Amino acid sequence: MIGKLYERHVLPKVLDACCSTKPVNYQRNKIVPHAKGKILEIGIGSGINIPFYNKANVEKIYGLDPSEELNNIAQKKAINNNLEIDFLLNGAEEIPLPSNSMDTILITYTLCTIQDLESSLKEIKRVMKDDAVMLFCEHGIAPDAKVIKWQNRVNPLWGKLFGGCNINRNIPEIIQSSGFTLNSLDQMYLPSTPKIVGYNYWGKATI
Ligand SMILES: C[S@@+](CC[C@H](N)C(=O)[O-])C[C@H]1O[C@@H](n2cnc3c(N)ncnc32)[C@H](O)[C@@H]1O
Repeated sequence: MIGKLYERHVLPKVLDACCSTKPVNYQRNKIVPHAKGKILEIGIGSGINIPFYNKANVEKIYGLDPSEELNNIAQKKAINNNLEIDFLLNGAEEIPLPSNSMDTILITYTLCTIQDLESSLKEIKRVMKDDAVMLFCEHGIAPDAKVIKWQNRVNPLWGKLFGGCNINRNIPEIIQSSGFTLNSLDQMYLPSTPKIVGYNYWGKATI
């Protein structure tokens, strides 16, 4: 009972606040403006990326997320930012869009949370046009043994508090082992952010 109340009423606000820090938004600005054409944002959440889109590049945006509560927040942000988005209340395991139809997949701070990564990345590839790009910005496993030790220790509790988020996933390995080609990859610890959650990977991948 308390779990459901937390998930419905507290977690959406917690996620919205934790994912909107200055260093995280600085990261968003490196990636989101590159989205172009027909765009599918996977795990749009509370819509924190919405103000970062370059409207001149956008033909159409679909925002997919299984959380109704986060979707409601995102819808308000879309209206406030004058950006038309088709919201799809779904997980990435089944994307209700035709094959070969998207120019850009945008995914930020969501590969940490998706439970069934294998099915989801397969679905993402299915909806991508042959020359489409997947833009990603994610936190994940750190390069330092001491940090990794703490990431592994804290991960089970972290997931319970933050909607199933994992802090120790190897993002480049996940992307590559799903059959994507990594065209660019940058990584670093974000400033002013605890190291266990602050190691960021961002870049572009194609199929
Ligand atoms: C930490 S939030 C990040 C939200 C947003 N992408 C951002 O950058 O702020 C993780 C998001 O993943 C979403 N999510 C969880 N499971 C998912 C799934 N199977 N497919 C797509 N999104 C999922 C959650 O609802 C949540 O919005």
